[in-house]
Amino acid sequence: MKTHIFVATDGSDTAAKAVDLAADLAARYDLDLTIGHVLHFGRPSEELQRMAHVEHMIEEVRAKAGVDFPNVPDTMLGLFAETRPGEESVRLVTLVGDEILRLAADQAANMGATKVKTMSSQGDTADAILDMAKEAGADMIVIGHRGLGRLKRAWLGSVAQKVLNTADCTVVSVR
Ligand SMILES: Nc1ncnc2c1ncn2[C@@H]1O[C@H](COP(=O)(O)OP(=O)(O)O)[C@@H](O)[C@H]1O
Ligand SMILES: [Mg+2]
Repeated sequence: MKTHIFVATDGSDTAAKAVDLAADLAARYDLDLTIGHVLHFGRPSEELQRMAHVEHMIEEVRAKAGVDFPNVPDTMLGLFAETRPGEESVRLVTLVGDEILRLAADQAANMGATKVKTMSSQGDTADAILDMAKEAGADMIVIGHRGLGRLKRAWLGSVAQKVLNTADCTVVSVR
């Protein structure tokens, strides 16, 4: 029996399904669950924009962290389109990442998982997921088969593909 599950989320609906499955297993078998997110400074952002609730998230983190972003444009497009990540966008990406993890941890708790931790990292997404899973001591990784990307013709996302091909533990890709 598996003892520690690692689930990766980019905040997408498919990743939320992965969190559901991972949390359900963790709850049923009283397993440790680590939820991981890889932060993308600089390039990510067109994907972040696709999250329907990103604007809401920004408001949330702004209020909660008491952080004021004086130059946040009305739409997030301007900020996220920056080629060089400014200090403000780095902070924002970090806070949005924290919020993605917080929502996923809430979701897991609602599913009845009790031993839940969160982690974030950066760098190549698949490599970072594999490293975090190893660091957490996970022997099973759960991912979504797609994420926030828009390459519809690919049946499997590139992160999912690389994790499935490279991991040396069991990987479950959720549809
Ligand atoms: N930045 C990220 N942090 C954590 N997990 C991620 C990240 N990006 C993708 N994933 C995981 O990989 C899965 C597949 O995403 P991906 O391969 O990027 O597909 P797509 O090309 O559709 O975005 C997601 O459902 C999620 O579980
Ligand atoms: Mg993606």
